[in-house]
Amino acid sequence: MEKKVCKIELKDGSHRYDVEIGHNLLEKSGQWIISTLAIEAKTIAIISNGKVFGLYGEAVKTSLLKSGFKVIVFLMDDGEEFKNFESFKRVLEFFGKNKFKRTDAVLALGGGVVGDLAGFAASVYLRGLAFLSIPTTLLSMIDSSVGGKTAINTSFGKNIVGTFHQPKGVLIDVETLKTLEEREVLAGFCEAIKHGAIGGYHVLNSVEKFLLESPLESFAENFEDETFLGKLTDLVFDQISLKASVVTKDEKESAKRTDSRSRKILNFGHTVGHALEKVTQYKQFKHGEAVGYGMLVAAEISTRLDILDNNSLNLLKRVVSLIGELPETNAIDVQDVLNSFAYDKKALGDGLHWILLEDIGKPKIVSSFEIPESIIIESLQEILHK
Ligand code: NAD
Ligand code: GLY
Repeated sequence: MEKKVCKIELKDGSHRYDVEIGHNLLEKSGQWIISTLAIEAKTIAIISNGKVFGLYGEAVKTSLLKSGFKVIVFLMDDGEEFKNFESFKRVLEFFGKNKFKRTDAVLALGGGVVGDLAGFAASVYLRGLAFLSIPTTLLSMIDSSVGGKTAINTSFGKNIVGTFHQPKGVLIDVETLKTLEEREVLAGFCEAIKHGAIGGYHVLNSVEKFLLESPLESFAENFEDETFLGKLTDLVFDQISLKASVVTKDEKESAKRTDSRSRKILNFGHTVGHALEKVTQYKQFKHGEAVGYGMLVAAEISTRLDILDNNSLNLLKRVVSLIGELPETNAIDVQDVLNSFAYDKKALGDGLHWILLEDIGKPKIVSSFEIPESIIIESLQEILHK
């Protein structure tokens, strides 16, 4: 099957790049870099972690060497807790030791953690190096690799320090998802459903159709099947198209915008999602799983406020149920969740905003002052304590 290409162009025309999606692509990554970079980079720094590099690093490195690049490799420790200042400092020192030049390029190979750290380091070293990305988790393919947000976590919050630095290109080989752990696949599908909820029936229905035709229980067994790989490519393409349609029109997530196409809508499900992660000390949920609950609570609130009908709420619940069991939430104290909203970083500045739904594909940004606390509490209870 041919690869698909999603063309991304910022509204102001300041940046454009292609996201190439397909399978059997890692072996061609050297050629991809040559055709993607306008500059003639001599050295490519691959930023990855031991696990991902062990699985896919040699294929990428061999291809780059064949294409005439010098390749240097930095492996960070695996885990969200390592997306921090220390790792950032080490990457910069690594660039320095290797006498990295402005004409060289950084290539992230891994999930969103690797991508966020590598992108951030690329954005500041020598005031900005060319950045390329080969995302290898479903979440990083459909979300974090597109749109230019980079970040590290700090003691005062997640993703607090970062930049906007658009990649020069993104290469997605869906076959890499074969080795992804089940919960990571499930968490990625939560984000795909999130895109469906805010993107419209066509996006949500395509996720539902994929899940009905290829149940997640047997996800890893389907990768010999060309038809399955084609469907996965189509799914990722649709998802990226949705994300691109939002981020290209509001690249920097303008603080002023509260319309239904503001980049803020990508945070649908995140108000409760972040709170759930925080009250469980980031130990119980994958981010996507917490967003899964967050979406359902936001939709429940929307229904209780009479802005969303029950059919749409039930559709969303049905599609979420197709991905399998989310972690248990009965023991979570609703009051703890309420308390933690106050610290949500999205609340800084102009009060806490909720992304609610008027329909599938019709998000509405609403100030928390407009939502009675009783409705928030009842909705949390309904979804978390069923
Ligand atoms: P992750 O990067 O931690 O990857 C999850 C796990 O899967 C890791 O253990 C990783 O080593 C492993 N892995 C990666 N690819 C694999 C593969 N193909 N086979 C087997 N194992 C593989 O997590 P993630 O969900 O990809 O990303 C989460 C991060 O993304 C968070 O830090 C979040 O803040 C960030 N994020 C950023 C944006 C953005 O716009 N920049 C958007 C959403 C999320
Ligand atoms: N994942 C949210 C954004 O890219 O804005």
